[in-house]
Amino acid sequence: MPLDFSNKTAVVTGGANGIGQACAQALAGGGAGVWILDLPRERPAEAASRFGAQGLEADVTDPDSLRRAFEVTGAPDILLANAGTVYFEDLHSTTREQWERTIAVNLGGVFHTLQVASELMKPRRRGSIVITASTNSFDGEAGLLAYNASKAGLLGILRTAANELGPYQIRVNAVCPGLIRTRLTVEMFANPELTRDYFRHIPLGRGGEPEEVANAAAFLASDLAGFITGAALFVDGGQMAAKFGSWNESMGVFEKDHWRLK
Ligand SMILES: NC(=O)c1ccc[n+]([C@@H]2O[C@H](COP(=O)([O-])OP(=O)(O)OC[C@H]3O[C@@H](n4cnc5c(N)ncnc54)[C@H](O)[C@@H]3O)[C@@H](O)[C@H]2O)c1
Repeated sequence: MPLDFSNKTAVVTGGANGIGQACAQALAGGGAGVWILDLPRERPAEAASRFGAQGLEADVTDPDSLRRAFEVTGAPDILLANAGTVYFEDLHSTTREQWERTIAVNLGGVFHTLQVASELMKPRRRGSIVITASTNSFDGEAGLLAYNASKAGLLGILRTAANELGPYQIRVNAVCPGLIRTRLTVEMFANPELTRDYFRHIPLGRGGEPEEVANAAAFLASDLAGFITGAALFVDGGQMAAKFGSWNESMGVFEKDHWRLK
């Protein structure tokens, strides 16, 4: 979806892979000067050069490393706080290290990113921030205890930051993806038994692609969303609207990776 981001600088955390990379590509495709920030092991400069962006090494759990990165990028017009991680563990199996890491990256990382970036953005009295939250910000999907807690906490950051930064004409919104095909979920997508069951609960009958989240994030980041702040937008094929699911064998067939009507 071509949106005009000419003369805008965008920073995307976790931009070397998956949803962040798709977002960075969408923004670059619309003419933005894009910086991706990611961990050294992801070689962000190399990853960014593949689609005309620039990359810097930064760890969102470390405010000093973020400060160093934003000294290079300067104040962004658009900030996507997207970096995240996940452990598939339940209440009893989650270790203290997994809990602390998940909260540090997914919740602390967004806090540090917004705090460092917004100090640069505020004097300019403009800007747009999009946080990658999740459907798991709202539900209690089993086996994702720490992840769910971190993503639910993002709603508190979202609303408070929207409130505090609104007077500076900085909008803060969130995308809440459902199940999206990235390396975090590649094993789930490769398991037809699992997807057959999972996608029963998705009115559109399938999982999502990173580009579909990027389209929503790009819209929220763009001037087209000029009067939208504090919003959390589901990008989930309708999953959160469908309490008891949508598909069964009497009306549909499951083919490879999606349900279709008979
Ligand atoms: N894939 C899904 O189904 C799904 C659904 C809902 C929300 N999300 C969220 O979308 C975001 C992107 O996830 P993805 O699926 O694209 O996964 P991904 O692993 O492909 O991308 C995540 C990126 O974040 C980076 N990252 C992790 N820790 C970091 C740190 N400390 N500092 C800097 N960068 C760091 C990783 O290196 C990676 O490049 C995450 O916040 C995730 O929770 C994903």
